[in-house]
Amino acid sequence: MTDTTALAALRTQAPGFTPRIVVVLGSGWGALADRVAQPLRLPYAGLPGFPQPTVAGHGGTLVCGQIGPNPVALMSGRSHAYETGEPTGMKQALRALRAWGAEVLVLTNAAGSLRPDMPPGSLMALSDHLNIPQRSPLTGEGGAERFVDMSAAYDAKLRRGAQAAAARLGQVLHEGVYAWVAGPQFETPAEIRMLRVLGADAVGMSTVPETILARHAGLQVLALSMMVNMAAGLSDEHLSHAHTLAQAAAASAAACELLADVLATI
Ligand code: HPA
Repeated sequence: MTDTTALAALRTQAPGFTPRIVVVLGSGWGALADRVAQPLRLPYAGLPGFPQPTVAGHGGTLVCGQIGPNPVALMSGRSHAYETGEPTGMKQALRALRAWGAEVLVLTNAAGSLRPDMPPGSLMALSDHLNIPQRSPLTGEGGAERFVDMSAAYDAKLRRGAQAAAARLGQVLHEGVYAWVAGPQFETPAEIRMLRVLGADAVGMSTVPETILARHAGLQVLALSMMVNMAAGLSDEHLSHAHTLAQAAAASAAACELLADVLATI
């Protein structure tokens, strides 16, 4: 079910606009908002069903506008399962944006790397994921559509487009499996060894619930991770949120250059 209030608010506040692509901006990806032409900024505070800030003054913004030929809606600010214990925080926003006309969802995040050939600063397109907590934002949904096919959750054609953009820019775009962990604590070295055995290439605390919601809603998904640290036990570095943000800032320019090219050519 789509929340019609959220859709009505979007239609009223951005009259005549229909996004083709929705982008969720994770840590390190926020500067993409500067690349939107004719931006219209809608604070989440005025959009019912969008993630509301838990800290006053730190609310999210939906930035609507154009990148190349494509009308885009950028979600600057996302809800994480570790804030509430529930993986449903993005449900109403994503459904409203789909109902508004969006066809493609591009998810971005900052992640820990499990691969020595993907040091901090590397970019990875998700080819698949591991839902480690085995939690779903669709728990309690009715209908046969709830049994979502996840066998090709990350669209191969969108990924090829992202690879073509990387090639144009002379960048390396890795591909791999993202393991979603509930957080907010980082992993132990033993947990990272477990994730390696299970086939993970990267680990993070977002994206997977959004991919599940998107596939249920009929959105095609591209997801991009920026490596901001080697996962626990794989280097001597001390993991902290400050470290994540510092590494994300360092890798931001190249990542946003790639993403802008991808969005202009989808
Ligand atoms: N683990 C989980 N989430 C993360 C990490 C990590 O190492 N780095 C950035 N987000």
